[in-house]
Amino acid sequence: MQSNEIRSRFLKFFEHRGHKIIPSASLVPENDPSVLFNTAGMQPLVPYLLGQEHPMGKRIVDVQKCVRTGDLEDIGDNRHFSFFEMMGNWSLGDYFKEDTIKWSYEFLTSKEEGLGLDPKRLYFTIFEGDENAPFDQEAKDLWMSLGVPEHRIYALPAEDNWWSPGDNGPCGPCSEMFYDMTGDVGDLTLEGFIEANKKEDIIEIWNDVFMEYEKENGKVIGKLKQKNVDTGAGLERITAVMQGKKTAYETDLLSGVMNSIKEKAGEKYNERSARIITDHSRSAMFLISDGVIPANKDQGYVLRRLIRRAVMQAHNLGISLKDHFVSNTMLAFVDIYKDNYPEITNSNIFKIISDEEDKFATTLEHGLKEFEKGVDPFILATTYGFPIELTLELAQEKGIKIDVEDFSKKMTEHQKLSQTSSAGMFKGGLANHNEKTIRLHTAHHMLLAALQEVVSPDIKQKGSNITEERLRIDFTCDHKLTDEEKKKVEDLVNEKIKAGLNVVRREMPFIEAEKIGAQMEFGAKYPEVVSVYFIEDEKGSPFSKEFCGGPHVSNTSELGHFKILKEEAVSAGVRRIKAILE
Ligand code: ALA
Repeated sequence: MQSNEIRSRFLKFFEHRGHKIIPSASLVPENDPSVLFNTAGMQPLVPYLLGQEHPMGKRIVDVQKCVRTGDLEDIGDNRHFSFFEMMGNWSLGDYFKEDTIKWSYEFLTSKEEGLGLDPKRLYFTIFEGDENAPFDQEAKDLWMSLGVPEHRIYALPAEDNWWSPGDNGPCGPCSEMFYDMTGDVGDLTLEGFIEANKKEDIIEIWNDVFMEYEKENGKVIGKLKQKNVDTGAGLERITAVMQGKKTAYETDLLSGVMNSIKEKAGEKYNERSARIITDHSRSAMFLISDGVIPANKDQGYVLRRLIRRAVMQAHNLGISLKDHFVSNTMLAFVDIYKDNYPEITNSNIFKIISDEEDKFATTLEHGLKEFEKGVDPFILATTYGFPIELTLELAQEKGIKIDVEDFSKKMTEHQKLSQTSSAGMFKGGLANHNEKTIRLHTAHHMLLAALQEVVSPDIKQKGSNITEERLRIDFTCDHKLTDEEKKKVEDLVNEKIKAGLNVVRREMPFIEAEKIGAQMEFGAKYPEVVSVYFIEDEKGSPFSKEFCGGPHVSNTSELGHFKILKEEAVSAGVRRIKAILE
């Protein structure tokens, strides 16, 4: 059975049972800023599950586009996908467990109207009960009334059989259906069932959620106004089942694209890379068709990561970065999906992906060279916009050991101050991040600004180094500073410290930062989006603006008293100052 047939059978089956077919909502939630993407069919329907009247009535059926990117590292295995379609039928305060379970069973097993699956290959789970809700005897009895043997129904705890979209919102106990992929699994004990599931001998194919409860801040707070039903059957998985394949990569949805990657890669082919390219290019297509564009935060950042990861895998397969392989792969999906999702025929999609491929190719060529020279992965991530995940993957593939602990420590410190890991620029010369060095780092910015104001606007930074004890700056200057100049610089820094200026980090395109005259280190390479630290008064008038990844104090009043210890020559036209905070 082809995937198109499965979709249409599902919709028709429930249409015949009084459901109205609605189109998939956008992948980007319209009224819910708390999530980046719709990760389940129920998400766009939350207001109706909470009691608002749906214009199409109380019985709805749909196939909803979903994106889940919480476990990108798992993609490449048999069952994780960043994009998938979820088929679902909905009762918005209408029918409840009895019809839900009956129809689920009928759709799975009916040859005429449904999938015609062999009941002997099906397994079921129900909720075992806890302080929020009792053991789901009703669901168990209902499955049994349809002929399911008692020993094929497993009671599991909330961890497995209580479904909620997150810490808040409608939720409830669920009952899941599983299918024997091998054909001879037979009867199983509870332990055997859990084991078989781990081994993918059996896989979950459908989830019926009896949504009559509500969660707030992670706690179930009581019942909803109405009893709802939310079901979800992954189209990819069901298609694999129907086509006798272990994974959706081998089904009519994805196998064409997989094969063309194989052909292109030739000897360098590896399955995992091909799967990642396939998965990610499909997701990128759907995200862009719903209005997402590559960016350094939120949805755009996820999209950028997907495209970049796919490019990286194409690179692993020996495919030239100039081939626009990811955008071309995406094109192959347009044919497969356009009848169901006309929005993907938008011709901008190709251009957006191929532009991003070009940008990344430049970053990548540069980053790879640095990586092979042994550059710290932290510097790669922050200075060259080289995604951390890619560095780790690459290192693993090349058999290079990375001190992950050191790396994560630096990243955690960095990320505390930076929303997106790929955007920041981390200056050389900052030895460690304890409070003293952070304060000296801010003073360092102020010193440069003061030198430019007092001595000459042409002064440029040539180098820096900060320890716990002192800061050091090298800068262009054609003369030895006079005592008067030194005194004025010191006084200006101290005056600005006392003024309690705010230290504010802003992300902006490199070109814009350059335009506003933000200070940058001579000869340093910067990513296309940079972070700039402003030291400014309440009105936003800046004393200093400098390209930098931080960290910094948030207000200059935290710095104490600034003092220049030494001023000396480094080389012709370059001077050095060592200074402290006391
Ligand atoms: N909302 C349920 C799920 O995503 C059906 O599994």
